[in-house]
Amino acid sequence: MAQATTVFVLNGPNLNLLGTREPGIYGRETLADVETLCRKTAGPLGLRIDFRQTNHEGVLVDWVQEAAAQAGGIVLNAAAYTHTSVALLDALRAFDGPVIEVHVSNVYAREPFRHHSYVSARADGVMCGVGVAGYALALEAIAPMLDAPPAGKTTRQ
Ligand code: DQA
Repeated sequence: MAQATTVFVLNGPNLNLLGTREPGIYGRETLADVETLCRKTAGPLGLRIDFRQTNHEGVLVDWVQEAAAQAGGIVLNAAAYTHTSVALLDALRAFDGPVIEVHVSNVYAREPFRHHSYVSARADGVMCGVGVAGYALALEAIAPMLDAPPAGKTTRQ
């Protein structure tokens, strides 16, 4: 039975390199800093966080499937798989709870191949281009959605 207040915070490829990877684009904060930020933000919101990172597409798909049984919502930075993965979109479509997509950088101000997101086709909201603060904002956004569907939405597609 899924725990309504559990949120999976899932991170895709190369996000383990945050802090050293292209700091002019992604900043100096590490993934460990992001996890700390998420835990600090989640506490007062009454959320339990399951924070994970993988470099492998199939593992992300497995985790989204696992979330269906164990989590009320998903905060997802799928990194490069955002722009390529139909498999991830299909997995997200099989998940019933709210999904917030996160990107540290503003993908729309970058190369054209980053302008399309398969994740956005299913996401209830997108946090993009505000740095790692986007993770905290995503948790604040998802908290009320765990009790009620997002405004204007009666069923998820
Ligand atoms: C990213 C943006 C993606 O285009 C890129 O492939 C990433 C990180 C971001 O957080 O800004 O790896 O998702």
